[in-house]
Amino acid sequence: MILTVTPNPSLDRTYELPGLTRGTVLRATADRVDPGGKGVNVSRAVAAAGHRTVAVAPMGGPEGALLTRLLGDLGIEAAGVPIAGNTRINVTLVEPDGTLTKVNAAGPELSPAEAEDVLEAVRVHSSAADWIACCGSLPRGLPPQWYAELVERSHRAGARIALDTSGAALTAALDRGPDVIKPNAQELAEAVGRPLATVGDALKAAEELRGRGARSVLASLGADGQLLVEASGAYFATAPVTAVRSNVGAGDASLAGFLAAGGQGPEALASAVAHGAAAVQLAGSLMPTPADLDLPSVVTTSDVPLDRALAEPAP
Ligand SMILES: Nc1ncnc2c1ncn2[C@@H]1O[C@H](COP(=O)(O)OP(=O)(O)OP(=O)(O)O)[C@@H](O)[C@H]1O
Ligand SMILES: [Mg+2]
Repeated sequence: MILTVTPNPSLDRTYELPGLTRGTVLRATADRVDPGGKGVNVSRAVAAAGHRTVAVAPMGGPEGALLTRLLGDLGIEAAGVPIAGNTRINVTLVEPDGTLTKVNAAGPELSPAEAEDVLEAVRVHSSAADWIACCGSLPRGLPPQWYAELVERSHRAGARIALDTSGAALTAALDRGPDVIKPNAQELAEAVGRPLATVGDALKAAEELRGRGARSVLASLGADGQLLVEASGAYFATAPVTAVRSNVGAGDASLAGFLAAGGQGPEALASAVAHGAAAVQLAGSLMPTPADLDLPSVVTTSDVPLDRALAEPAP
């Protein structure tokens, strides 16, 4: 079972529009609502892969109740932590050419008691978990050290933790030894405080974060594939992608693929890349099912191409 933790989940409402004109009434040609948030996305990908997953998240108001129901519809066990505030609604506007405009709400502020309730819900479910994946930014009310506390408590309970977050929430948790972190190029550059222009730069940065405490680093490098740096060595993997339809949630799909395949070693890396490559070829934040994966097309090597320039360098 993979337990996910999403401190600031959302209901994601998508409107398809014939065009986007400011200052007018826009009539949607289609609309839908999906459960959202990075940990929730990981649960969606784990469920799509046919594995058991439990999603811990604070949930409040009618939006929280709808989120619980939508998760259940997807085969995800929702472990909602009741809060006084209302779960946020994020809005995505889609134009006919695929351009996305997003409006993200800040989300409810959590009280200290609610913050503790979320940690307690993780503890309750952690004994059955092969991995705990903690993903996304922290809502108002949770201090930057909140993930650090979660890593420490989960390790005490004997669980393995994957952390996918950025900024202070990431750097504050490093010295507690998260078992895996999954920065993208931008997040990796920010964590080490310097730009990344090549795969070799990314490798050096990942090694630096291991030096600061992360046990292993799964760095997703967009179109360039992924780099895994762990105790057994460093590995690099890519997969061919014919047409990118949407990269939304590709990193979350990758992390799910990595953990579902054991969370270490080149085979788990190959699974991560297969999930990322499949996710970008699906519309919106749709998560790949086993039929969408093309594992044989993934090329994995321990001969990391240090001099390869990144297609999307991180400033
Ligand atoms: N343009 C692309 N072409 C081919 N593969 C891609 C592309 N973008 C993403 N991928 C695949 O998806 C993986 C994850 O993407 P990325 O590094 O953008 O993650 P991310 O920024 O964490 O995404 P998110 O947080 O939105 O889920 C990549 O490592 C790669 O395997
Ligand atoms: Mg990401």
